[in-house]
Amino acid sequence: MQILKAKDYEEMSKIACSLLVEHIQKNDFPVLGLATGSTPEKLYSCLIEEYQKGKVSFRNTSTFNLDEYVGLDSREANSYQFYMKEKLFDHIDLPSNQIHLPNGMSPDLEQDCLDYENQIQEVGPIGIQVLGLGLNGHIGFNEPGTPFTSRTHIVDLAQSTRRANARFFSGIEEVPTQAISMGIASIMESRKILLLVSGEEKAEALYQMMNSEVSESFPASILQTHPNVTVIADEPALSKVPVSYGEKSVR
Ligand code: F6R
Repeated sequence: MQILKAKDYEEMSKIACSLLVEHIQKNDFPVLGLATGSTPEKLYSCLIEEYQKGKVSFRNTSTFNLDEYVGLDSREANSYQFYMKEKLFDHIDLPSNQIHLPNGMSPDLEQDCLDYENQIQEVGPIGIQVLGLGLNGHIGFNEPGTPFTSRTHIVDLAQSTRRANARFFSGIEEVPTQAISMGIASIMESRKILLLVSGEEKAEALYQMMNSEVSESFPASILQTHPNVTVIADEPALSKVPVSYGEKSVR
């Protein structure tokens, strides 16, 4: 596991942005796995800037998002489809037929999960999967207890996750109780994983991701076993990780 220590959120986002741009430039048909939430917002604005400067084109890129809430359609501001359009897709030259998100409005959610998994298998492997880190160690919406063998599936969101995400809604009661998430086995098949972590409130989760025994009770611990993980974290997020970890400062 490679640890890149950034000064702050801005620097973390820029480093992630340059790694993604480099990947897209080097690959004829790049496949990216994308996350939502607060953490990658600035990464996405940086990608838009790089596109506007003519440094990168997304014409041949395909994307797979990690997750989507059940019951929110693409016009709802809190759906992840809406988020992705607003924060990235509407501003770059990524063809819409190369964008993939689970469909939380599907009349047959189980079938949608199977179809999504098949699409990942057909178009993939995912070259770089961007991940954020949940306070409870979730990756995607794979909550504690999710089998490491899981594929795209329907998730009952943990109360703590609904509480953490209530900041985007008018109240916790508005936060959906279910989501569709790419499974842990699907995430682990990505060639490279970029885990972005920012802020002191994530320090304990980041410490545990690196130090706890690999266990389904802390899903992100599985990343210790992936051969190609780069953690890009800012100083506050790394505040509980001992220097002996050999983190590499990029400043
Ligand atoms: C979002 C996702 C989640 C978030 C995590 C952190 O697509 O998969 O795992 O990455 O909940 O969220 P933020 O970045 O809002 O702290």
